[in-house]
Amino acid sequence: MVILPDKPIVLLGFMGSGKTTLGKKLAASLDRTFIDLDRFIEAEENRTIPEIFRQDGEPAFRRLESDALKKILEEKDLVIAIGGGAPCSGDNLGLIKEKAISFYLKVSEPELLHRLTFSTTERPLLKGKSESEKQIFIADLLAARESYYKQADVIIESDGITPEMILLKVADWQK
Ligand code: S3P
Repeated sequence: MVILPDKPIVLLGFMGSGKTTLGKKLAASLDRTFIDLDRFIEAEENRTIPEIFRQDGEPAFRRLESDALKKILEEKDLVIAIGGGAPCSGDNLGLIKEKAISFYLKVSEPELLHRLTFSTTERPLLKGKSESEKQIFIADLLAARESYYKQADVIIESDGITPEMILLKVADWQK
């Protein structure tokens, strides 16, 4: 059995790194509630993330994101998946470090590119870009964000990882 500190678990990483899929399974295994920060924002706003980007722009989305994160991090018994940009804006990372245990799901650039090419999720930051523009954008954004992601408490090399393997890593980290 995995005994975790009395803190929420935050999964962070680039778009397409599997935070939601793995987070759901991790939460079920740990008997915790799963929250996806983007879905939480959508429920509070009663509109989708693409709509928020379209209607109010990215800076407004980032403010909603920070407010929602602050709220959610007050609860201890959660597994939380956060959007790829969340740890890189404002003082979100400081707050995550203070209140949670954080795991960076580290996926290689080629693998991310592959997953995002075939993903059906609408992602405002990638919208309207050709495949080659996407490739450059993803490489640049990943390079800019890695210094934030790497400050997570645990870095999990996640190319091809399964939820069971993540759980083992979480258990390992306790020792
Ligand atoms: C974003 C990632 C998205 C979502 C928004 C912005 C980003 O979440 O929060 O579109 O800045 O990387 P996922 O990482 O779950 O795709």
